[in-house]
Amino acid sequence: MSEVIEQNKIPRRALYTGETIPAVGLGTFGSDKYGPEQVSEAVYGSIKAGYRLIDCAAVYQNEDRIGEVLKRVLEEGIAERKELFVTSKVWNDMHGEGQVLESCRKSLQDLQLSYIDLYFVHWPFPNYHAPGCDGDSRNPDSRPFSAEEFMSVWRQCEQLVEEGLVRYIGMSNMTVPKLKAVLPLCKIKPAALEMELHPGFQQPELFDYAVSQGIQPIGYCPIGSPSRPERDRTAEDVADTQMPEIVEIAEKHNIHPALVCLKWAAQRGQIPIPFSVKEPQFVSNLKCITEDPLTEEEMETIRKADKDCRLIKGQVFLWPGAKGWEDLWDLDGEITGGGK
Ligand SMILES: NC(=O)c1ccc[n+]([C@@H]2O[C@H](COP(=O)([O-])OP(=O)(O)OC[C@H]3O[C@@H](n4cnc5c(N)ncnc54)[C@H](OP(=O)(O)O)[C@@H]3O)[C@@H](O)[C@H]2O)c1
Repeated sequence: MSEVIEQNKIPRRALYTGETIPAVGLGTFGSDKYGPEQVSEAVYGSIKAGYRLIDCAAVYQNEDRIGEVLKRVLEEGIAERKELFVTSKVWNDMHGEGQVLESCRKSLQDLQLSYIDLYFVHWPFPNYHAPGCDGDSRNPDSRPFSAEEFMSVWRQCEQLVEEGLVRYIGMSNMTVPKLKAVLPLCKIKPAALEMELHPGFQQPELFDYAVSQGIQPIGYCPIGSPSRPERDRTAEDVADTQMPEIVEIAEKHNIHPALVCLKWAAQRGQIPIPFSVKEPQFVSNLKCITEDPLTEEEMETIRKADKDCRLIKGQVFLWPGAKGWEDLWDLDGEITGGGK
């Protein structure tokens, strides 16, 4: 009999409406390594184990299989629809007028749901790369962030809420300057910001800004994405599970360093969405936030260990003339490339 974590033991986080959602979720990006079958079986197993938040996206190319297991979960009474919190995301090639609705309808159909709980704009520009492409591939139509173009996508997202197809909308891969440009223009504010967050990349400024605006940070690559695709690897990358501070704390708690990353994430206040298709891993990833918390001192040790090491640099989204991946992230505090 597999282990089941009781719902009342799992901490929750409040969205701006006061509604609470689980403090940890399951990622579903197979990193070009795990196919739809493996990922969807993990979704089934993880919901059985107690997960209720599932992070999906059209570009992960597995929503149809995940839809089959969600149906099974509901039919078998493992969870009720209202207990689940399912996210999806519009991919960069569907930003045109009318395309966000089309993409959302496709995700709804694939996921076999009548509504999505939280629908993200996956990246804040229409720069497209083919799934599985290599790190040097560039699309000549790529261009810098434009607040006007972004808002045309956001208006379509707001319409999805108005039509009852999605309950909340969110942004992903944003920066403080981009948020400052678009937040005043939103009729419906983002409930969450999905961003890269792990001990080696803590983004304190963006994290604090999101929280100050009542936007819940959701942390992707919470374990440092050890299985990420080749295109997202460079020689300088720091492996979180090998950082000496993380290893030492793991030894003290007698747990895997991955679990230290997740405890840190949940205690700091972001919602980590670790990926795993392996039952012992995904069970322990959920269970670890229900027991044996890190001490304040350990939390402080990890805060100080930040390496400012971004793993998902996004270089495949660069536009012709961009200097390097840093241009995507507005490092000098202004929107690189204009932003109008
Ligand atoms: N919004 C965005 O742009 C964006 C970008 C990236 C990711 N995401 C989302 O965030 C999710 C998580 O990110 P990610 O999958 O890249 O990285 P991750 O969750 O940091 O790393 C996942 C990998 O960590 C290992 N792992 C998991 N649990 C473990 C445990 N208990 N002990 C030891 N190793 C463990 C597994 O490696 P092995 O498979 O080798 O065992 C697994 O494949 C994605 O699935 C996706 O839903 C969103």
